[in-house]
Amino acid sequence: MRKVGVIGAGQMGNGIAHVIALGGHDVILADISKERAIEALGIIRHNMERQVNRGLTTQSAMDEAIGRITATDKLSDMSDVDLAIEAATEKENVKVGIFKELCESLKPEALLATNTSSISITRLAASTDRPEKFIGMHFMNPVPVMKLVEVIRGIATSEETYKIACQFISDLGKDVAIAEDFPAFIVNRILLPMINEAIYTLYEGVGSVEAIDKAMRLGANHPMGPLQLADFIGLDTCLSIMQVLYEGLADTKYRPCPLLVKYVEAGWIGRKAGRGFYDYSGDEPIPTR
Ligand SMILES: NC(=O)c1ccc[n+]([C@@H]2O[C@H](COP(=O)([O-])OP(=O)(O)OC[C@H]3O[C@@H](n4cnc5c(N)ncnc54)[C@H](O)[C@@H]3O)[C@@H](O)[C@H]2O)c1
Repeated sequence: MRKVGVIGAGQMGNGIAHVIALGGHDVILADISKERAIEALGIIRHNMERQVNRGLTTQSAMDEAIGRITATDKLSDMSDVDLAIEAATEKENVKVGIFKELCESLKPEALLATNTSSISITRLAASTDRPEKFIGMHFMNPVPVMKLVEVIRGIATSEETYKIACQFISDLGKDVAIAEDFPAFIVNRILLPMINEAIYTLYEGVGSVEAIDKAMRLGANHPMGPLQLADFIGLDTCLSIMQVLYEGLADTKYRPCPLLVKYVEAGWIGRKAGRGFYDYSGDEPIPTR
């Protein structure tokens, strides 16, 4: 894995590019505009500086890693990557569009991975020209901090692809959990219904934003309240995952909470938008309900 492409330079894409560059690989980071990709480089630099200040990496390792990352808005720049990891918006049509365009440029031996939180790996793989070289690599947020990567094989994923992917992840210092290709895999099959239930709890007036988050932090020993976590993940991503669970498992217990739908419709999609269940415009987040 000399060179790795990362498509989507949002919070996950920039985190993935960050750890891969620190791991010694060249990275090409793509988004829909050059500005967005360059903006992500600034975020990576800022996050690496924090790691240097905490003694988790050195200034020279950081400088080398930053020098290994190139920002682009063209998927055709991925022609010499050995692995491409898609980390764009959690919408199947967006991902399929990227794979169609990407496969025109990728070299035949390159592996293809998706960071999807919920969408069928088998179905995404089938939209490419290399289902046997396609795999789910589900990094956790924030990528530089979280140890786990869920690995999901599609029905056509080859044993060789699976082994190379697991080795690559372990070389990055991460741990693998294997999940079968069911909607939302393991982590989000369990986590997202809990978050959705927290939103129902708010919707039904059982508690305020503050009370719900405090109850789960202090009462269940969660490091973050579920509404704070939802804002951190992105409410658009949370809603997409619930829709995949609801449609994929055909069970009403996964019905997205109408309040979640309303927040997404309003564009209040969490921290990345400056407003979700909290307002992030001031020094301290303030509950919006
Ligand atoms: N947020 C989380 O906690 C989390 C955790 C694990 C996995 N994921 C998954 O990672 C993926 C990205 O999530 P995120 O939180 O980084 O979202 P995000 O909204 O922060 O970033 C998505 C990025 O994709 C870009 N994009 C959209 N269409 C594109 C295209 N055609 N070509 C190139 N770039 C394009 C957007 O411009 C944006 O910068 C999703 O599949 C999500 O489910 C998210």
